[in-house]
Amino acid sequence: MNISVLTLFPDLYREFLSTSLIGRAQERELVKIELTNLFNFCKPNQRIDSPTFGHGAGMILRPEVVESAIVQQEAAHGKALKIFFSPQGDKLDQTMLKKLHALAQERKHLLLFASRYEGVDARVEAEYADMVLSVGDFVLMGGDLPCMMLLEGLLRYLPGVVGNADSVEADSFSGAFVDYPEYTHPVEWHGRQVPEVIRSGNHQAIANWRQEQAAETTVKKHFSWLRQHHLTADEKTLAYKHMPPHYAALMHGDVLLKDFNSPNGTRVGTSSVTSFDLHDISRSSLTYGLKNYFIVTPLKDQQQIVNTLLDFWNMPVGISYNKHRHQAVSKVRLQNNIDEVIAAITAQEGKAPIIIATSARQVPHIKTITYYDQSIVWQHDRPVLFLFGTAKGIAPHIIEKCDYLLGPLYGFTDFNHLSVRSAAAVVFDRWLGINIKNIV
Ligand SMILES: C[S@@+](CC[C@H](N)C(=O)[O-])C[C@H]1O[C@@H](n2cnc3c(N)ncnc32)[C@H](O)[C@@H]1O
Repeated sequence: MNISVLTLFPDLYREFLSTSLIGRAQERELVKIELTNLFNFCKPNQRIDSPTFGHGAGMILRPEVVESAIVQQEAAHGKALKIFFSPQGDKLDQTMLKKLHALAQERKHLLLFASRYEGVDARVEAEYADMVLSVGDFVLMGGDLPCMMLLEGLLRYLPGVVGNADSVEADSFSGAFVDYPEYTHPVEWHGRQVPEVIRSGNHQAIANWRQEQAAETTVKKHFSWLRQHHLTADEKTLAYKHMPPHYAALMHGDVLLKDFNSPNGTRVGTSSVTSFDLHDISRSSLTYGLKNYFIVTPLKDQQQIVNTLLDFWNMPVGISYNKHRHQAVSKVRLQNNIDEVIAAITAQEGKAPIIIATSARQVPHIKTITYYDQSIVWQHDRPVLFLFGTAKGIAPHIIEKCDYLLGPLYGFTDFNHLSVRSAAAVVFDRWLGINIKNIV
């Protein structure tokens, strides 16, 4: 494979390209990497850059300089897959590297353009770039480090470059799970032991331990990666095993009710149950793997309504009428108050739950978390309970007692009066939803 690198600073690459695996890959002619100095394409007395139109800050690389370099390299090595770098580009990740490897195999000539200053004239990108890649949401001074990152990532896929080709596919971000922890001699270091199982010589036990470790690390630290995948049934089971059990409770007691006689327009009270909430939140709970959904009301007549509904769906007539409905409704539990919910979960799991309150309004709380904070909550290694309110929301004295608060859901409008069953579905999906990109 030929790789042309267009840069303003070829010296930056010399050590990099002659060292270690990339150096050896070139010696063994597995790849030919040619550095092209963009300054060589400036006309005599012409600058390589010029000011941006419209009085903005910074200098822009001139289009004709970059064009001449591209034309020269394509004349020498054939039509290239041309890659530009920009913080605004598509993210360079392992999936992208794999895709690039497949494309580069077809094209045989890869051209990487490392820009500088404020970047290149936008028309060059429109005219020539087959792909524009970003190495992250931050701005560097130039495209040379992104270019080197791409070379390191891509060349690992080239047969013969890395000693053990299997290790490339087993490394992090190739499959659903990241890599397992590795150890070498000595067996004890700073009082820390290499786990006994991987010294046992029992290959099956080692493989199992590694798989469990990889799944646990991925769930706890890289859930956003895991949830992008189209998980196989086995991967799903393994990941789920390492997730803390989740529960939800819908508060009908200890909620705010409208009260025109009160100075702030509300008072703490009890709302009525609805069959919609019972059905819809139990179905969402089952979909997202919650263990139980508690309906919380101290009122006996309201409890009777819930029990009547539950009884129907748990009786043979209800089960045979719609077994999926029965399956979902069997997740529902009825409790008088939040303390009973906590006690029930503690009895079931042997640990008290971490409680996450939800609110449709901005309310003060010491620990407000976002929908990307699973690792913060899951590091406690305790069950997780989502608390949803009815009427005008959960009473402040209950929210204060919760460990965390998830802020209001919003779209692009000021309106956010979702039904609690819709809000619960959105919260579950944001927190526990998988297959969001279907990467295979
Ligand atoms: C100072 S940056 C230009 C940033 C540009 N004005 C912007 O805000 O999008 C100069 C060059 O560095 C490279 N670069 C900087 N940050 C990058 C990133 N995160 N990923 C890829 N390339 C980057 C690009 O080649 C870019 O044209």
